[in-house]
Amino acid sequence: MPRDRNIARALERQRDPSLPPSLELSCGSCPILNPAVPMRIRLEKHESPLPACPEPEDCPLRRFFAEAAARGAPVDLDIGAGYGSFSRARAALHPERRVLAIEQEAARVARSDVAARIAGIRNLALLRAEMRWVLEYCIPQSSVAAAFVLFPDPWPKDRHARNRFFRLSNAALLHKVLAPGGVVNAATDDEPYFGQILETMANAPGFEPTAPESRSDAEKTDFERKFISQGKRVFEAAWRKTRRAPAGAV
Ligand SMILES: C[S@@+](CC[C@H](N)C(=O)[O-])C[C@H]1O[C@@H](n2cnc3c(N)ncnc32)[C@H](O)[C@@H]1O
Repeated sequence: MPRDRNIARALERQRDPSLPPSLELSCGSCPILNPAVPMRIRLEKHESPLPACPEPEDCPLRRFFAEAAARGAPVDLDIGAGYGSFSRARAALHPERRVLAIEQEAARVARSDVAARIAGIRNLALLRAEMRWVLEYCIPQSSVAAAFVLFPDPWPKDRHARNRFFRLSNAALLHKVLAPGGVVNAATDDEPYFGQILETMANAPGFEPTAPESRSDAEKTDFERKFISQGKRVFEAAWRKTRRAPAGAV
């Protein structure tokens, strides 16, 4: 199938020894970060709560956050990063920050990895993983300065609505990983979903609305460029984690 051929090609290019080291973080003994197991099988095999990490000291994500903390580098999350244009631009424009891009599709991660390595970017890490698991199990509490959820899948049919990223349980996970004062930025071309995002975040404890961070042209995402070229309108909003968590918040 052409789709599989594309994935094989992207993964082969990712292993090209002439490129700088891969920016993808993985761990063979981790149910979340094991690249040898396809995402579908990882999801079928495990249900929450996941087994505890057998070798937490070897976790590459732990090292990523420890290095960022040691250097005082703010960490940004790109949740559902796709082909990674935004993550790469963000990392290149802000070498003092660390950017962590989470994306489930192997070919997208591989292409993003190769492009970042060719561009000489080093302050970016890529995860081929299920974003909810990463938020729940892998990211230390209060460790993230800014989270970007840019053009999340809208799942327009009612029967698929439960798959949308913006729901109260995921808002609670964002609240847990954000540092006090940290900001969630959202953008979508889908007006009904935007309405639901606003409603969800208005009901999410511990957040207040704030101005979305303005993104330069270079920081436009791959999907965003496509939507703009089709004349579609982009809706954006942002919320700040309040400094004092309300009772009952995670
Ligand atoms: C519509 S695309 C937007 C990609 C990128 N943010 C952009 O604007 O170009 C949504 C992305 O989220 C990824 N995604 C959806 N659900 C995910 C999940 N549960 N875990 C990780 N990535 C996910 C999809 O594979 C897809 O690449």
